[in-house]
Amino acid sequence: MGKIEEIKKRRTFGIISHPDAGKTTLTEKLLLFGGAIQTAGAVKSNKIKKHATSDFMDIERQRGISVATSVMAFHYKGKKINILDTPGHKDFAEDTYRTLTAVDSAIVVIDVAKGVEEQTENLVKVCKTRNTPMIVFVNKLDREGKDGFDLLDEIEGKLKMTACPLSWPIGMGQRFKGVYNIYESKLVLFDSHGKQEEDNTIVIESLDDPILEEKVGEALAEELRSEIEMINEVYPAFDQESYNQGKLNPVFFGSAINNFGVKEMLDCFVEIAPMPLPRQTEERVIDPLEDKFTGFVFKIHANMDPKHRDRIAFLRICSGVFERNTNYHHVRNAKKMKFSNPTAFMAEKKSVVDEAFPGDIIGLYDSGNFKIGDAITEGEQLHFKGIPSFSPEQFRYINNADPLKSKQLAKGISQLMDEGVAQLFIMENSGRKIIGTVGALQFDVIQYRLEHEYGAKCSYEPINMHKATWITYEDDSKFKEFYSRRKSNIAKDKDDKWVFLSESAWSLNTVKETHPDIMFHTSSEFK
Ligand code: G4P
Repeated sequence: MGKIEEIKKRRTFGIISHPDAGKTTLTEKLLLFGGAIQTAGAVKSNKIKKHATSDFMDIERQRGISVATSVMAFHYKGKKINILDTPGHKDFAEDTYRTLTAVDSAIVVIDVAKGVEEQTENLVKVCKTRNTPMIVFVNKLDREGKDGFDLLDEIEGKLKMTACPLSWPIGMGQRFKGVYNIYESKLVLFDSHGKQEEDNTIVIESLDDPILEEKVGEALAEELRSEIEMINEVYPAFDQESYNQGKLNPVFFGSAINNFGVKEMLDCFVEIAPMPLPRQTEERVIDPLEDKFTGFVFKIHANMDPKHRDRIAFLRICSGVFERNTNYHHVRNAKKMKFSNPTAFMAEKKSVVDEAFPGDIIGLYDSGNFKIGDAITEGEQLHFKGIPSFSPEQFRYINNADPLKSKQLAKGISQLMDEGVAQLFIMENSGRKIIGTVGALQFDVIQYRLEHEYGAKCSYEPINMHKATWITYEDDSKFKEFYSRRKSNIAKDKDDKWVFLSESAWSLNTVKETHPDIMFHTSSEFK
């Protein structure tokens, strides 16, 4: 197969949801359809269990699982599907944000009873800023839940999406009879034994077909007719272009655990989801069909085996063809690099690959050369956009608890920051180091990993901080004045960028008002 065909058949996406909506279950069913796994239960949930906050080994074990399930690839209907796993746990949200820079589209899972939850809102917001095409899957229809139209209202209200229902539930919970596939005008009947037999899918000419009464009963048939009429009146018809631009969001209903409604969505997904999309760099737009190879690192994971200190850097291929044992250019280090064991992921299996195409994700063994956001090219100086650090919301001073190990501590902190576990700020007035994280769990992870991977000990000290915001300015003299008045709140991040640490929302607002010439940004990427 030619290079262009290889690229065109790739579909790289992420499944996002609030924990417990059914992301792991849906992933597993997709892999089953793709023949990538044979039995249910093969995909391990990598969610951090609620009670595990103090069990570091458990966190590490679960992080280990998430390496194995970071990318799951399979073939379906002539397409190569790459699913990128995204941690649902809020404390690892930044990891998820970065992973979303490497996808071309997303599937959003919503629990029919809980509706749109907080973490779903946050993640969808990130996808919206990048205009990522998204499909919604409303899950757990075998249970009683919210009314379909109320859910569409929530999807439009809270997620700011334009809903376009492509399937519609017939009954719910005890009365759940199946879905009507609007996209293909098919009636798909529910079988609670988890099998979606061909016999259960009936193509009907129109909703007036009496077979509807026969299969779902008079009351539900009537309900379905009027609901579909309403959908046709109120919601837009599917339009490929609007979906591609992230302006229209198909909605499907089903029950992942019962393997129901999943096939309808997958069949539609392979038809409409975009092939690898162009990527924006500071210098220019990279087209996936370009000849020369380019890619960027969006995730770094420590090796869980203590005997192997190396890490795995996950690289999204953006253009050209990546080849094993070939010299490439590491842009930030201005260094040549060759990879003898690039790894591809097929479901649970890892294997060495000779070549990989745009849309693919490969794992590169790394002994400390990579940082999140690094570009690898054939020589061109490129800096990929859209991989920012986000404003952390939890802060602690970090101190060295073993003076004999200060070198190890510095190295450990630096590498963990490169991995994106947390962010380091150094105060201008005192030189003290502050760790900022999205979630409290990371403090435990850092302490544990510093000790077990680097032989260093740290202690934390509480600090009263509300938010870190990156600052920019045009007029040097204004900054000098700001600096002299606010030095005790000013720090530098790991890239030497200026950061303002505010004690409260109120104080941040006051500072903004008194210094209108200073710009404050909640993400490290700004113009
Ligand atoms: P997550 O990755 O989004 O966190 O969710 P996960 O798939 O682990 O699913 C969360 C819970 O919801 C699981 O139950 C799972 O079995 C259940 N679930 C998933 N899809 C459906 C569905 O279509 N209908 C119903 N009724 N339940 C569903 P659990 O009890 O937390 O875990 P387990 O003991 O079943 O593994």
